[in-house]
Amino acid sequence: MKFHSRLSGFYKLAPSERRRIVVDAASLPSDLAATLDAQAALALDEADKMVENVVGTYALPLGIATNFLINGRDALVPMVIEEPSVIAGASFAARLVREGGGFQAEADEPLMIGQIQVLDMPAQDVEAAGRKLLEQKQALLAFANTLDPVIVSLHGGARDLEVRALKDASGGAMLVVHLIYDCRDAMGANMVNTACEALAPRVEQITGGRVNLRILSNLADRRRARASCVVPASALATGQLAGSVVARRIVEAYALAAIDPYRAATHNKGIMNGIDALALATGQDWRAIEAGAHAYAARSGQYTSLSTWSVRQDGDLQGRLELPLAVGVVGGATKVHPAAQASLRILGITTARELAQVMAAVGLAQNLSALRALATEGIQQGHMALHARQVAVAAGARGDEVDQVAEAMVAERQVRGDRAEAILARLRS
Ligand code: MEV
Repeated sequence: MKFHSRLSGFYKLAPSERRRIVVDAASLPSDLAATLDAQAALALDEADKMVENVVGTYALPLGIATNFLINGRDALVPMVIEEPSVIAGASFAARLVREGGGFQAEADEPLMIGQIQVLDMPAQDVEAAGRKLLEQKQALLAFANTLDPVIVSLHGGARDLEVRALKDASGGAMLVVHLIYDCRDAMGANMVNTACEALAPRVEQITGGRVNLRILSNLADRRRARASCVVPASALATGQLAGSVVARRIVEAYALAAIDPYRAATHNKGIMNGIDALALATGQDWRAIEAGAHAYAARSGQYTSLSTWSVRQDGDLQGRLELPLAVGVVGGATKVHPAAQASLRILGITTARELAQVMAAVGLAQNLSALRALATEGIQQGHMALHARQVAVAAGARGDEVDQVAEAMVAERQVRGDRAEAILARLRS
C-alpha cells in the first residue's frame, strides 16, 4: 500500500491515535497491532524460551520516526529507545532531507566472516599451511555447504576462504582462516559459527596445526550499508542564522570528528542512537552492530567519524554514512519477538538488505539532527523540554501534572529532581 510518511502534527496526537494511523498505513493485522502494547508484546513463556533464568520482561517506549523518504519510498520507522529527543530528531532531519529528494541508500551482499585460528605450527610453516588450505578451498567450501541445505537452497552459504598469517605480541606465528559466508536474510552468527566449528578438524588435518577459536567476526566489513543525502541550504536556516551559515557550521562540527577520537566517539554515538533504536525495534543483535561500527570507525588505525559532511558547489549540504550492518529479518529475536515482527511490517520491508539501507538512512538522519542542533542553538534547549518530562515523572508527577511540572522547570531553566518535587508539591497543595 502507498502511504505518505510526512505526517505533520503526528507528535501532537494521543498515542492511541498515532497507533491507529500507523496500523492503517502498514495494514498491520490485529494480532501484530496488539503487540504494540507492552503486556502483549512478549509473553512470559515466550521470554522464557529466549534467555535463561527469566523472571519477567522489560518494557521501553516504541515510537515512530516520520518523514523518511528512502530510495524514493516513504517509510515509517519504528524506534525503541529510552532517550528523549532521538525520535523527534530523526523525524526533523528526515523532513529536511526530504526537501533535497530524500535519502539514497544501498547495502552490500549479506557476506559475513567466520574466523578459524590455527596455532602450533613452526613459524616457517604458517605461510605454507595457508597455501595448502587454499589448494583445498573448493573441497572445504563444498563440505561447508553440506551443513545447511536451506541456506544453500536460498542461494546463500559458504562463498570463499581466505588466509592471513599473523604474529602475536610475543612474535608467535598463527594462521587465521576467514570463511566468507552469504547469510541471505539472516544475521547469520549461528550458521557461520556452525560452519567454522565443522571445518576445524579438516583445517587441522591440512595444516598440521591446532585450531583454537572458531567464531564469527563482528567486523562485518563485507556487509556494509551506505546512505547519502543532500539538504538544500535554505532548509537549514533558523530564525537567527542563514542556511548557508548553518551548513558551514555543520561541516566544521564534522571536521572535528574526522580528526579527533574524543569528538568522533560522541559523533558516532549520535549516529548509533538512531541505528540502535531501530535495531532494538526489529529484534537485532545491537551489540554486534555497535562492535562492528566502532571497529570500522577505527579501521585506519585512528578512530574517526563514520559519516562525512561537505558543502557542495551549489551551497547545499551533503552527507554520507557508511558502516557494517549485520542485520537479519529471519531467525533470532526477529522471528521470536512479536513486536519485532510488527516493526518489520511497519517498515514495510522483507529483506535484510532493505533493513540495512533504512538503518543507514536513520543513522545519517540522527547525525544530521545532532550536528544541526549543536551548530545552532545547542542540544540542551530542545532536549531539556523532553528531559524535563522524565524528571517530572521520576519525581512522582502523573497525568496532566507531568507537562505542568516540566514546563515550569524549563521556564525557570532548572531541570532537576528537587525542583520537580517542589513544583509538584506546590501544584498539589
Ligand atoms: C546524545 O545522545 C548524542 C549527541 O551527543 C551526538 C553528538 O554530539 O553528535 C548529541
